[in-house]
Amino acid sequence: MSSRTDTDYASLARQLHALLDTRDWLTNAAQTSAFLMHALDALNWVGFYLQRQPETLVLGPFQGQPACNPIPFSRGVCGAAARSRTTQRVDDVHAVADHIACDAASRSELVVPIVVADRLWGVLDIDSPEAARFSAADQAGIESLCRVFVEASDLDG
Ligand code: SME
Repeated sequence: MSSRTDTDYASLARQLHALLDTRDWLTNAAQTSAFLMHALDALNWVGFYLQRQPETLVLGPFQGQPACNPIPFSRGVCGAAARSRTTQRVDDVHAVADHIACDAASRSELVVPIVVADRLWGVLDIDSPEAARFSAADQAGIESLCRVFVEASDLDG
């Protein structure tokens, strides 16, 4: 059982909104990954994978260890999020047969698809060394932070 107190995602959303003071998605993606890495505890990797060619995710701005690249839609938790366009919340990545282990420290993972005008732009991937790090409330909060990123950014540039 985690003793973590509830994260104030409304406050984090306001802080992220204030931080993203350009429309440039590249700058905003870099800022967002750094902000999340410092604002949330017990994380070992935060970053974006982008769809820049069909059915493939390529590594974008991130914080953490060097990561796997590219990731086809057919593989891993990120691929499942891209295929299904639904958030993937995994309590124990060791229990996922085709989990792609970029960093052996990862135990739980949250991957949020970012869809703009019915096109999958990419995903936000967050990894934790703690099993079951992400609650349903964390999922909802992190999805709201993704919306702040999307609304602040020109994602087709
Ligand atoms: N674990 C992911 C791959 C990305 S890394 O964790 C940064 C997956 O299975 O999709």
